[in-house]
Amino acid sequence: MRTQVGIIGAGPAGLFLAHLLRRAGIDSVVIESRSRADVEGTVRAGVLEHWVTVLMQGLGLGERMLRDGHFHDGITLQWNRQRHHVDIAGLTNGKHVTLYPQHEVLKDLIAGLLAAGNEIIFGAGGTTIRGAGTDTPAIDFRRDGAGPPETVDCDYVVGADGFHGPARQAIPAAHRTEYQKIYPFGWLGILTKAPLSWHELIYSNQQDGFALLSTRSPDVQRMYLQCDPADDIANWPDSRVWENLHARLDTADWSLTEGAIFQKGIIPLRSFVCEPMQYGRLFLAGDAAHIVPPTGAKGLNLAVADVLVLSRALEAQYRRNNPAGLAMYSATCLRRVWKAERFSWYMTTMLHSNDQETDFERRIHVADLDLVRTSESSARSLAENYVGLPFDDRHESG
Ligand code: FAD
Ligand code: DHB
Repeated sequence: MRTQVGIIGAGPAGLFLAHLLRRAGIDSVVIESRSRADVEGTVRAGVLEHWVTVLMQGLGLGERMLRDGHFHDGITLQWNRQRHHVDIAGLTNGKHVTLYPQHEVLKDLIAGLLAAGNEIIFGAGGTTIRGAGTDTPAIDFRRDGAGPPETVDCDYVVGADGFHGPARQAIPAAHRTEYQKIYPFGWLGILTKAPLSWHELIYSNQQDGFALLSTRSPDVQRMYLQCDPADDIANWPDSRVWENLHARLDTADWSLTEGAIFQKGIIPLRSFVCEPMQYGRLFLAGDAAHIVPPTGAKGLNLAVADVLVLSRALEAQYRRNNPAGLAMYSATCLRRVWKAERFSWYMTTMLHSNDQETDFERRIHVADLDLVRTSESSARSLAENYVGLPFDDRHESG
């Protein structure tokens, strides 16, 4: 088999890239290890930045999002049992974020690609990149996990295979540097069949830890609780989950509405960046190259930002024989990546309780929160980052 761009991974990075390339008249094949049902059924992110919703509409994929998504003009921060509304739209010339779950985005992307005749190979096994540093890279894999070995010869290979995928390891260790911070807490996430409790997301930092109130639809709500990342979910019966959510979200005159919990899981929190995001004709995109803790809702959006930069660079190469964008892909992406790392770290440290911090540091975080309440420029900075920073794809380094 032969294609122009071989893409490993049918997550947001891989699937958005396949759409962007198709629009530019560039062929691609997506190779994914999981089944379609598994990809479409995994519950993860919920928040799309303003420009991602515009991009989805531009790709002809906006119909269900416009019908079923929820457009939020602000968020609520809570500390010391007080709530403060951050007027995101008012602070960013009318931009909003959209609550539309990642797996619904993936369903739209997959249906659109298959309808256009783009190949997605689900359930592939043994995916291996060959010749990453050469002019003739290829991807080896086995259909349905254990079929006979097959090869896709490519002009370029894109590793959009998430944090645990093999693509990053295909860059020789001497050619990459990894930066990492592991947080001493994780998130316990639930889905519950309950009505909306509040009109927007609440990010709360009460003495005993962080909680986030989010939503999926008028009768399904998403909530997260700070917990020990090594804890066993079996230690969290529903009664304990509700007790902790109430303790961290309720105020004197408001109490969270409970419902039946039908999904529950624990994730660790980390910050991670691999530099550079390119080796020869192999390009990394999304979680394969960087992870942010979810507090800033940046991970999915950053994955889409990478592939927008990459698709423009590939288009310049194929259409105008101009390699400048590809040469600067990593530097261009990393400028945005590090700003998202900074914002996600800021939101995470400001909003979580951390036993390893001193009382001095705890008071600094409360001062940070109070700055958002009292200083318009602090609130605007938070709003601009939350809704998505403008694109900066100048082709120079630094
Ligand atoms: P992934 O989504 O991980 O996709 C990679 C794909 O590659 C997977 O389908 C995987 O099966 C496949 N793969 C792996 N190995 C192989 C292989 N060997 N061969 C073939 N295929 C392979 N982000 C936000 O922007 N907003 C949020 O609100 C938000 N909330 C989150 C909440 C939670 C609880 C979690 C866990 C994450 C959240 N994120 C959020 C982060 C977001 O989900 C990720 O950043 C996003 O999925 C990254 O997309 P990706 O395409 O880079 O990687
Ligand atoms: C959701 C996830 C996040 O990480 C976040 O910051 C906000 C909302 C969600 O899953 O709804």
